[in-house]
Amino acid sequence: MLVQLLGLLFLLYFANSQPNNGEVVYQDTTVYGVVGKAVILECGTTVPDMYIWSFTKPGTEAIKAVVYDLGQGPKIQKLAHTLGQVTVILKSADVSIDKLPVAAQGLYTCQAFYDIENSPVVYYYYVHLTVRVPVTKPHLLVSDVSPVEGSTIWLQCNLDNGTGPIQYVWQQENRHGNISAFAQGNTGVVNVTEVNRNHTGWYRCLASNAVNSEQSDRIWLDIIYGPDIPQIDVTPYTVTERGYSALERETVSLQCQAQSNPPSQYVWLYNSSQVYTGPQLTITKVLRMHTGDYACLAQNTYLNTRSKKTISLTVYYPPDGSPSCSMEPAVNHTSLKLRCSWTGGFPSAEVHWANHLRRAGEEADEGHDSDILLPSHDLFGNSSLFTCTGSHLALEQSVECSTRAYLPPSEPVCLAYVTTNKQYLMLSCSWDGGAPNALVWWEGPGGHETPKQENSNILNIRYGTARNGRPYVCHAKHPLLGQTKTCWLTLEAPVLLTQRRVVSVYEGTDVQLSCNLRANYLPTSQITWFNNHGLDILDASKYMLLRTSAWANLTVRDTDEAQDSGEYRCTSSNAVGGADLNVTLVVKKHPIPPNATLIRVMYIGRLRNEVELEWQMEGDAQQGWTGFVVQHRGLTERPGRRTSNNESMGRTEERLSAEIWHENILQDPDVRIHIVDRLTPTAKYHFRVMPFNYRTIGHPSAAKTPAEPPSNNYPAVIGAAIGGMLFAVIFTVLLLMYIFRNRNNSPRLHDMLFGLRHSQSRENINFPEDEGVSEAEGGGVPEMGSSSSQGLKIPRAASPLAAADQAPPMGDNEPVNVTITVQATGS
Ligand SMILES: *[C@@H]1O[C@H](CO)[C@@H](O)[C@H](O)[C@H]1NC(C)=O
Ligand SMILES: *[C@@H]1O[C@H](CO)[C@@H](O)[C@H](O)[C@H]1NC(C)=O
Ligand SMILES: *[C@@H]1O[C@H](CO)[C@@H](O)[C@H](O)[C@H]1NC(C)=O
Ligand SMILES: *[C@@H]1O[C@H](CO)[C@@H](O)[C@H](O)[C@H]1NC(C)=O
Ligand SMILES: *[C@@H]1O[C@H](CO)[C@@H](O)[C@H](O)[C@H]1NC(C)=O
Ligand SMILES: *[C@@H]1O[C@H](CO)[C@@H](O)[C@H](O)[C@H]1NC(C)=O
Ligand SMILES: *[C@@H]1O[C@H](CO)[C@@H](O)[C@H](O)[C@H]1NC(C)=O
Ligand SMILES: *[C@@H]1O[C@H](CO)[C@@H](O)[C@H](O)[C@H]1NC(C)=O
Repeated sequence: MLVQLLGLLFLLYFANSQPNNGEVVYQDTTVYGVVGKAVILECGTTVPDMYIWSFTKPGTEAIKAVVYDLGQGPKIQKLAHTLGQVTVILKSADVSIDKLPVAAQGLYTCQAFYDIENSPVVYYYYVHLTVRVPVTKPHLLVSDVSPVEGSTIWLQCNLDNGTGPIQYVWQQENRHGNISAFAQGNTGVVNVTEVNRNHTGWYRCLASNAVNSEQSDRIWLDIIYGPDIPQIDVTPYTVTERGYSALERETVSLQCQAQSNPPSQYVWLYNSSQVYTGPQLTITKVLRMHTGDYACLAQNTYLNTRSKKTISLTVYYPPDGSPSCSMEPAVNHTSLKLRCSWTGGFPSAEVHWANHLRRAGEEADEGHDSDILLPSHDLFGNSSLFTCTGSHLALEQSVECSTRAYLPPSEPVCLAYVTTNKQYLMLSCSWDGGAPNALVWWEGPGGHETPKQENSNILNIRYGTARNGRPYVCHAKHPLLGQTKTCWLTLEAPVLLTQRRVVSVYEGTDVQLSCNLRANYLPTSQITWFNNHGLDILDASKYMLLRTSAWANLTVRDTDEAQDSGEYRCTSSNAVGGADLNVTLVVKKHPIPPNATLIRVMYIGRLRNEVELEWQMEGDAQQGWTGFVVQHRGLTERPGRRTSNNESMGRTEERLSAEIWHENILQDPDVRIHIVDRLTPTAKYHFRVMPFNYRTIGHPSAAKTPAEPPSNNYPAVIGAAIGGMLFAVIFTVLLLMYIFRNRNNSPRLHDMLFGLRHSQSRENINFPEDEGVSEAEGGGVPEMGSSSSQGLKIPRAASPLAAADQAPPMGDNEPVNVTITVQATGS
C-alpha cells in the first residue's frame, strides 16, 4: 500500500512538474527467457532517480515488489528468490535474472521516476517475461514394429517437457542410409494406414520448439509382406506368343523371384507335379520332352501365404536331315514346279527357294513347304540348278537341297517300224534323258494322234492305213524350253530307181544290176530281186546280192547269153505302198574273131607222132581274139556203110569216121606255131585251128592233114608195114564205131559192147559253125569233155567292169527312162 501510495504521489508530482503535464508514460516490451538461463529486464535507457520493480504472476491481479531503489541503493525483496537469482545491474535500473525458473514468468513492471527535483517524470515500463522450457529428448513409440503390409499403425513421439508450440517431424532412414522426412505435425502421433514394404526402415522423431530441437533414438520398422506374384526369369530369354521357348540341347535356367518378407521359399512344379525346391531350376540339355508348363510356387512361411506363377516352356527342335527338293512339270509342261519341303521339327522349319526364283515365279509358301511355279520363259539354258535353303531356329546354319533340271541331251528321235506280223505300223518318238521328263505326243493326218506321255510315245497305225506323203509330227515339250520341239515322219511308198534300165554286157562277165530307193522311206522297205525267170534270187553261185536299206545290187555272175538275158525285177513295198522296177539284162556274145588259116601242117621227123602247125590270121591286127584252140582228130573208116563200095580216094575218106576233136587251148593271142605230140604214127589226122574271143569261138580253119616231112622214103616203107599191121586194128575200131553209131538200130549189140549209156554233164560251147547242126542233128554236135583231158575252160574277163569297159553297154549315154510304180493305199 505504501509503495502504491508513493507511486501515486510521484505520479501526481511529476504530472504537474513535467512538460507533459505530469502524465505517466507507459512502455511495453516482451522478453523471452529460458529456464535456467539468464535474462535482463530493462528499465529505460537512463538511470532514473528512483524505481520500483514489481511482479504480477500470471493469472493473478496482484502486483508485488521485487526490488526498488529510492536513492539509497537497490533493495531486493524476498519474493525475488522465487524468481531466480535476481541482481540489479550496476549503474542502471536493469534487472538480471539468472537461473530462471518457470515461475519467473509473468509481468514485470518498472516504475521509474526521473528529475524529481525539477520536474519529475514517471515512466511505467511493462516487461512481459516469458520463460520457455526446452524440449526434452523424445521417445518414439510404434504401435507395431513388424506390421503386415496393408495394416494401419501409429508412431508416437513422446516428450517429457518442452514449451509449446512443439513441431514434430518423423524421419525415415531406408536401408541405404538415405534419410527423408516421413511425416510432420504439431501433434506427437502420426497414423500410417496401409503400411507397405517401402515403409521398412529406421524411424526416429524430432521435436522442436522456439528453444531447441531434440531427436529420439531410431526404431526399426519391419514390414511383413508377400510373397508377391513370382517373377520367372528364363535364361536364355526367348519369348514367343506361346510362351517361352528354348532350343533343344541348350541349358535352360528358370529363376523364380517373389518379393516377400521374410524371404520366400520356392517350389517348382512341372505339369503340376513338384520337381524341384529352390529358386532356380536349371535343365542342362533340355529336350523336346521337357516342353510343358513350369510353375513357381513361392511361400511366406511367417504369414503362411503363397503365390504361384506358371509359364509354358516350348522346346524347339529341328527337323531331321535336310530339306527335300523336287521338281515336276506343270501346266502341260509349260512351267516347272519346284517343291521344297522339310517337315518335322518344332516349330516348322522355314524353307525358301533362292531369291531370283522367288522373284521369277509364283510362290506358295507355308513355312516348311515352298512351291514355286516357274514358267518356261523365265528359265534359261538347257540346264538349271535350283537351290532351296532350309533354316530352323534350333540350327545355327541353314541346310540346302538342290535339284537340277536339264534338257534331254539330244533332239527328239522319230522312228517307224512294223510289227513282225505286219499288223501295225508303229511310229515311235522319244525324247528322254531330261529332267524332268519331257512330254511327247503324236499328231498325224486322219486323226492319228496319241495322248501326251512322258519321254516317249508310240503311235500305232493299222498296217496299210497310214497316209502317204503326209507328215506325222511328234511334238516334244520340256519345261526348260519355251517352244515345242518336233520331229516328223513322212510316210511314203517307196520309189525305185536304177542307173540303167537296160544293161548289156558281153557274155562271161559278172554284171551288177542296181536298184535303189529314191529316198529313205518310212516305214522302211526292203528291196527284193527276182531273176529273169521271175524267181526269187536263191542260187548263191549264180547271184550275189549286196543289200543295204537304201539299195540292193544284184550281181549276176558269169553271164550267159541264153540263160541270163531277160527282164529282172526289183520290188519294194512298205506299209504305205510298193513299187516294181524292171531291168533288162542283155548278154551279148563277143564278136566272132577273124578267121585263121593253117598255112603249115607237117610231121616232125619220121616217127610221125609230132605235128607242127602254123597258121596266120586275117588282117593280123592282133585284135579281136584272146587265144586259139588247136584241134585234131583221128579218122577211122566207117564200117557197114553203103558207100563202102566206092573205091575212089575221096569216097574212101568219106568212109572214114571222125573221132572226136582233141584240142589244145592256147591262151596267147600272139602264138602262131604249135606242136601237137603223142600222135599215133599210123593214124590219119585232121588239124584245124580256131581263134577265140572270151567265150566266143571263131570259125574253124579248114581242116588239114599233116604233110610228110620232106625227102625220106625209109620211114614210108616202115610206115607201110606198120600200116598193114594196123589195118586189122582200124577195122576193128571201125566196126565198134559202127555199132556205136547204130546203137539205136541194134541196141543190144551196143549195150553189150559199151555197157549202159553214160550221161555226163557237159559244158556246151557255142561253136558258131555248129549252131545249125546242133539244133538239127543231136549226134553231130562236137562234144568236148569226158574224153578230152582238158575241158574247154575259156578264161573269164579279168573283172566284169573291165569287160564292160572293153565293150561299153549299149545306151550308156542315153537318159534312162524309168517308170516307177507306186501303189499307195490308204483309207
Ligand atoms: C520438467 O519440469 C518439471 C517441473 O516443471 C520438473 O520438475 C522436471 O524436473 C523437469 N524435467 C526435465 C527433464 O527437465
Ligand atoms: C489416429 O488414429 C486414432 C485412432 O486409431 C485417432 O483417434 C486419431 O485421431 C488419429 N490421428 C490422426 C492424426 O489421424
Ligand atoms: C515403393 O517404392 C517404390 C519406389 O520408391 C515404388 O515404385 C513403389 O510403388 C512403392 N510401393 C508401394 C507399395 O508404395
Ligand atoms: C506337359 O504338358 C504339356 C502341355 O500340356 C504336354 O505337351 C506335355 O506332354 C506334358 N508333359 C508330360 C511329361 O506330361
Ligand atoms: C493342258 O492340255 C490339255 C490337253 O492336252 C488341255 O485340255 C488343257 O486345257 C491344258 N491345260 C493348260 C493349263 O493349258
Ligand atoms: C547347253 O547348250 C549349249 C548351247 O546352248 C551347249 O553348248 C551345251 O553343250 C549344252 N549342254 C548340255 C548339257 O546339253
Ligand atoms: C550298188 O549300186 C549303186 C548304184 O549303182 C552303187 O552306187 C553302189 O556303189 C553299189 N554298191 C556296191 C557295193 O557295189
Ligand atoms: C571265115 O570262114 C567262114 C567259114 O569258113 C566263111 O563263111 C567266112 O566268110 C569267112 N570270113 C571271112 C572274112 O573270110
